[in-house]
Amino acid sequence: MREIAVSGVRPTGKQHLGNYLGAVVNFVRMQEEYNGYFFIADLHSLTTHPRAADLQANVRQTLIEYLACGLDPDKCTLFVQSHLPQISELYLVFNMLAYLGELEKVPTFKDKVRSQPENVNAGLLTYPVLMAVDILMHHAMKVPVGKDQMQHIEMTRNFGNRFNHVYGVEYFKEPVGFTYGDKPLSVPSLDGEGKMSKSKGENTVIYLADEPEVIRKKIMRAKTDSGPQSIFPPTDVRYFMTKAMEETGAIKRNENAKSESVQNLFDLMGLVSKPEKIGFFNEQYDRHAIRYGEMKKELAEDMVNYLTPIRERIKEISADQAYLARVMNEGGEKARTSAGKTMSEVREIIGLKSS
Ligand code: TRP
Repeated sequence: MREIAVSGVRPTGKQHLGNYLGAVVNFVRMQEEYNGYFFIADLHSLTTHPRAADLQANVRQTLIEYLACGLDPDKCTLFVQSHLPQISELYLVFNMLAYLGELEKVPTFKDKVRSQPENVNAGLLTYPVLMAVDILMHHAMKVPVGKDQMQHIEMTRNFGNRFNHVYGVEYFKEPVGFTYGDKPLSVPSLDGEGKMSKSKGENTVIYLADEPEVIRKKIMRAKTDSGPQSIFPPTDVRYFMTKAMEETGAIKRNENAKSESVQNLFDLMGLVSKPEKIGFFNEQYDRHAIRYGEMKKELAEDMVNYLTPIRERIKEISADQAYLARVMNEGGEKARTSAGKTMSEVREIIGLKSS
């Protein structure tokens, strides 16, 4: 029996490279080794009151992109959260077990209170409860998520244990957060600071669905700096002396010399370009001979090549309404079977049995 893994993403529309490498790639890998339940968290999106048509379009786009990235409905259970009525039912049960004090302390909640004081609704407060229900519903042991969601996984364990304790059972197990490698992959933003995020503007992210021309334009506009920061200008003889000493290994090269924006550019290259190319530009950088325009052109071409198969799949799948409907129905069916079993066991445990 394979271990169960559960994860979801909120349907925010088109996914960018950061979403892809930070999350979806892990799901694609996990479907080979785990019994994976991967879903589109449309109920979680309701906290921000999206327009019905937008929500529907975003769910559809997310599903298309999941499929285009390689999630295979024959290898995992791929579904839309709201297609499981059991989620809403178990959410009610767990809301009785979650305390105001612990929910108010959650950093993601406090952030929202700060960023959107005009819409601090109860659903925002109980967001971690809904997430715990997604996970516990299928008795997941592994939950692939980013660092910002780890606290929610801890709360999931707490809620599951509390249920067990309150009802005197050993029913829910303890899931753990999961990433491949020791740290989650971080994809840098094109604005030269921090990680790729839609909240920093359309031109700071590369969408999986972006056309080659758009990718080129965005990368050519990415922030850089005016060149390597050396303590000695190249006109100073000490510049060449330290350089020579670095080359013989007599002194260590300052590896932190790159500015964040330039490091970001190199990091992006690290994701899509060949090591020799990265080596070449690193060498150019060290020799103070780097031309960022040239580097960006190379990066843009490698990025286009990297994303082209995905973009083409997105187009193909978008055009196949029948396939999409079938995937959604079959995935929903499989997930409801698992959720139905859990929910009837829970009803029995807590005394809501119908007969
Ligand atoms: N809260 C997650 C996010 O914002 C999405 C999510 C909802 C999720 N339910 C989940 C992730 C269950 C993992 C497991 O990214």
